[in-house]
Amino acid sequence: HGTMRINESGHLTIGNCDTVDLVREYSTPLYVLDEKYFRSNCREYYRAFSDRFNSDVIYASKTLLNTAVCRMIEEEGLCLDIVSGGELYTALKAGFPASRMYFHGNNKTTDELKLALEAGVGRYIVDNLYELELLNNMAGKANITADILLRITPGVEAHTHEYIKTGQIDSKFGLAIETGQAMEGTKKALNLANVRLHGFHCHIGSQIFELESFAHAANIMMSFINNVRTETAFTAAELDLGGGLGIYYFEGDEPKPVKELADIIINEVRKQADEYCLPVPKIMVEPGRSISGPAGITLYTVGSVKDIPGIRKYVAVDGGMNDNPRPALYQSRYEAALANKMNEKETELVSIAGKCCESGDMLIKDTKLPPAEPGDVLVVTSTGAYNYAMSMNYNRITRPAMILVNEGAAEVIVQRETFEDLIRNDLIPKHLQKKE
Ligand code: LLP
Repeated sequence: HGTMRINESGHLTIGNCDTVDLVREYSTPLYVLDEKYFRSNCREYYRAFSDRFNSDVIYASKTLLNTAVCRMIEEEGLCLDIVSGGELYTALKAGFPASRMYFHGNNKTTDELKLALEAGVGRYIVDNLYELELLNNMAGKANITADILLRITPGVEAHTHEYIKTGQIDSKFGLAIETGQAMEGTKKALNLANVRLHGFHCHIGSQIFELESFAHAANIMMSFINNVRTETAFTAAELDLGGGLGIYYFEGDEPKPVKELADIIINEVRKQADEYCLPVPKIMVEPGRSISGPAGITLYTVGSVKDIPGIRKYVAVDGGMNDNPRPALYQSRYEAALANKMNEKETELVSIAGKCCESGDMLIKDTKLPPAEPGDVLVVTSTGAYNYAMSMNYNRITRPAMILVNEGAAEVIVQRETFEDLIRNDLIPKHLQKKE
């Protein structure tokens, strides 16, 4: 996928860079981001939405954010979904305009809201009644009117993993329509002096392949917008339908084209607008995984290969759940290959083990690879989203570097962590210090 090819030496290339050379130069584990692919994913959304109707495409930072990524998102004309002070800080440092940021989260702290108000964040997606009051008070004190959307729980059950479902009533996110809290929040927001309500937001889940779920959500949201107009005379001008489009990780995953997502959403919204005699609102989507996910791969070096005859062959690599916790957390499945042996026909069934001191640290259970030897380069694909973003230092393992590749050039965009980084914040109290 993307710019991945096989060259004359039988090596995998990405962005016209030989992965074996990349490993020689930058070591492993190594995250590689394909600039062309990342940007073309941005463009696909821009063309399907912003080019065709009044719409903002908002990249979900939580999938992958660093200052270089911010620059690409800005250049591609997308907005930014941020969910923490850290994401806000990163984007500001990259010079991303605060007015194009959408601030999400179910428990934004006062410190985070303060930072956002000072920076002039474009939209606050208010999650609950407490936050509504808090933001109103803080905006008042700062002499600002905060522009908001209310996060609504539409009650849509998307077919995806339990932990990444968000649209159902029993959710920590948003105000449910069925419970009356969505209407209550709306009335409250309309009566507050220092917030300006523009419309509503919902997000039904992630890694979704059934586009009908999005139409269903749009339908429910439009009917809510209609009820709000009837009860309050407020007509929502903005409707943000969240992210969630599924990507290819593994055989059987069948991603839907972004254009189809756009069509199904706009058709449903227009149909409902017609039926209720409502103006068609500005439509926002918040794709994350479908932009960054397929554009990233991870390269590892094979170390120990252990055969337990008749049971399993373990191929261990120099990374694992530290750089990709998704298999351990969600039983996510990935595909792998030996990047230095792409043309080898003979394969065997193996399992890819991480190097963490934990039996659950298995990157892939049962995959076919050519016979692996220590020193081989193992590539795992579709690791651009929720991999670096969810990486950790368990076992005091340092985070890998990330490089951006394009047309034969490679640039480090996040440096490899060093051992000094690991102890940077450690302090030894006086009574524990070594006496000279
Ligand atoms: N908007 C909101 C409000 C969200 O909560 C999310 C993801 C997105 C947009 C982006 O959704 P996407 O297009 O990436 O599906 N860590 C989990 C996924 C958690 C999803 C969190 N919210 C995983 O690795 O599968």
